[in-house]
Amino acid sequence: MKILFVGSEVMPFAATGGLGDVLGSLPNALSKAYNDNDIRVVMPLYGTIGKIYREGMTFLKSFEVKLSWRKLYCGVFTFEKNGVIYYFLDNEYYFKRDSLYGCFDDGERYAFFCAAVLRMMYEVNFYPDMLHAHDWQSALSVIYLNLKYRQIEEYKNIRTVFTIHNIQYQGQYDFAILGDVFDLDTRDKRYVEYGGCINLMKGAIEFSDFVTTVSPTYAKEIMSPQYSQGLDSMLSRCAGKLRGILNGIDYEYYNPQTDPDILMNYTWRSVNKKAANKSAIQEYCNLPRREEVLVFAIISRLASHKGLDLIKYIMEDFVASNDIQLIVLGKGEYDYECYFRYLAGKYRDKVSALLVYDRQLSKKIYAAADIFLMPSKSEPCGLSQMIASRYGAVPITRETGGLYDSIKGYYVDEKGNVCGNGFTFANYNAHELSDRMYAALSLYHNKEEWLKLVRKVMREDFSWEKSAGEYMQLYKELV
Ligand code: GLC
Repeated sequence: MKILFVGSEVMPFAATGGLGDVLGSLPNALSKAYNDNDIRVVMPLYGTIGKIYREGMTFLKSFEVKLSWRKLYCGVFTFEKNGVIYYFLDNEYYFKRDSLYGCFDDGERYAFFCAAVLRMMYEVNFYPDMLHAHDWQSALSVIYLNLKYRQIEEYKNIRTVFTIHNIQYQGQYDFAILGDVFDLDTRDKRYVEYGGCINLMKGAIEFSDFVTTVSPTYAKEIMSPQYSQGLDSMLSRCAGKLRGILNGIDYEYYNPQTDPDILMNYTWRSVNKKAANKSAIQEYCNLPRREEVLVFAIISRLASHKGLDLIKYIMEDFVASNDIQLIVLGKGEYDYECYFRYLAGKYRDKVSALLVYDRQLSKKIYAAADIFLMPSKSEPCGLSQMIASRYGAVPITRETGGLYDSIKGYYVDEKGNVCGNGFTFANYNAHELSDRMYAALSLYHNKEEWLKLVRKVMREDFSWEKSAGEYMQLYKELV
């Protein structure tokens, strides 16, 4: 089978979050497990893509892309890694910028990208059996395929899957740019119309053969108004073609046994070696070097759906009244950045705030931390709780979306067996969170029991193996 992944970010080339992780690891996992398939990925050639990757790319050709009245240059570069072929679409006007998103013309940039993806199939003579598009930035690839290309023989039988990684971002625009920017006819307005504006995600859901999201629980949640960001009626209508498949993580990249980015490698058997990583990060953060102190970590985009309001509500009290340390890594909304800066300023020997996005540093923190906090208000899947588990940082999570599907509350059964793999709470309530933090703190001081839990957490299977199989099964059913 020929499969083409279409996405706006792919690790290790360019990423801002979980979408990049998934597009960087799922194609690899598929190609490893099913090596008789031809798996390719296409993304924009961003200006931020590092020299080491650019040097490995080969220029294939250039062609012209039409977008409404525009005639635009598009270059295609390729790169091969672990049996997967990556295509990079080049147009410096659209993609040579300092950041991936957040520009006034994002709609136009990704309309160009999607138009170019379809044209590219002809130019490089690669027509997939399965086009798998991700999030709103790729939605137009499914829409254009159905509205503009279906009458061409080679495009007739391409099947499509659209994956929602986060329903918060839907690609909503004013009707005024329907023709001028999105190159869509007024008679096709009904396909992308939702809630009084253009909604690209809705259009892709409408046209896709199948829609997936990144965990079974989130698939149910987004059919209700509390989580759907307005799309619940649309999704309920499409429930028959909606499924949740839990993400995995890259078990080679995130492996404490071999990770070159951490000071001391370890496994669940030698988990006591985490202490050396703790010391190293304490030194890096200017915190007192104390092996016995419990280190909490927050590694997150600082956005409100990550549950940071709960943290703000209880953290100062918790820090002031307990002998613990807290390390925060991530950047985002100004309010939260200010809050963590304030906390770190006031409790210099307890709190450190590293307000950057840094993947290597994140692994050093996972390897050092005892507890990982992730009290999200909503969480389509979440990868950090899985990474934290692999590095032996016990997660405290709220029971929502993929967090519910991956982390179960700790308890000891009648026979004395450790059950569950973290601490969880149900309601979006700060005191439920602090209750779990106290429970974890008290277990931490019972060294023997704590170690049993950490070892169990480290042995959970969050690899892609099972989920890659589910995707392959779905592709087969559709093709
Ligand atoms: C988005 C979601 C996150 C998910 C990731 C990958 O970033 O917010 O929960 O894990 O996509 O699917």
